[in-house]
Amino acid sequence: MKNDERHKYKLYGRKRSRSLNIQDQYIIKNLFPLYQLKDESIYSNHHDIEFEIGFGYGEHLLWQAENNKDKLFIGAEPFISGVISLIKKINEKQIKNIKISTTNAINILDNLADDCLSSVYILFPDPWPKKRHHKRRLINPNSIDKLHRVLKNDGHILIASDHKGYIYSILFNFLQDNRFSWICEKSSDFTKKPYLSTQSKYEKKAIKNNQNPVYLTFKKISL
Ligand SMILES: C[S@@+](CC[C@H](N)C(=O)[O-])C[C@H]1O[C@@H](n2cnc3c(N)ncnc32)[C@H](O)[C@@H]1O
Repeated sequence: MKNDERHKYKLYGRKRSRSLNIQDQYIIKNLFPLYQLKDESIYSNHHDIEFEIGFGYGEHLLWQAENNKDKLFIGAEPFISGVISLIKKINEKQIKNIKISTTNAINILDNLADDCLSSVYILFPDPWPKKRHHKRRLINPNSIDKLHRVLKNDGHILIASDHKGYIYSILFNFLQDNRFSWICEKSSDFTKKPYLSTQSKYEKKAIKNNQNPVYLTFKKISL
């Protein structure tokens, strides 16, 4: 994995919501390197490594790390205000099992070893609702293939979304790929959150607007 934070693939969406004040600049310069994802993070003693793609303000990642101290959580988020917000909390709480990157998650997937992740979370990925923007969607056959390579056998991909069109497209793409099984036996399996966690910003927003989130879980089938 490159530590120079270059984006090999095109990145869409927000990166910075405001110019950084002195405190934020201090955090990026001095604290970020302490929690930054580097090659050696992955070769840690952790048996279980979970990856959150697009962690936003990091509510879910922080909750998971605090409640599962035996696991390592890695997170990718190019939106700097979200990264700064998470670093502040990690630093205050002295969390030891989170490593983060501002790099496009697709770059990170390319640089991870085969079969190294137990789970991947993609919570409320940008839906890019306009047809001409669908090609920007993070979850597509190409990224599903990359996810397959880095997941352990029986590893899970957990996805949440409140956008019907994107949900159909995600389901369609995973069901086309016979290397995954969709963990769903009854309708409550996709309306009930399949993991314990606090609500993320976008999850709260969806619930507040009565846009009930759908939760999709796919398992990598062991061969
Ligand atoms: C709609 S927000 C959801 C944030 C958070 N997961 C939540 O539930 O509140 C989607 C996030 O994905 C991030 N994102 C988009 N493309 C990404 C990529 N290629 N790699 C990493 N993060 C990405 C965006 O910056 C944005 O913060």
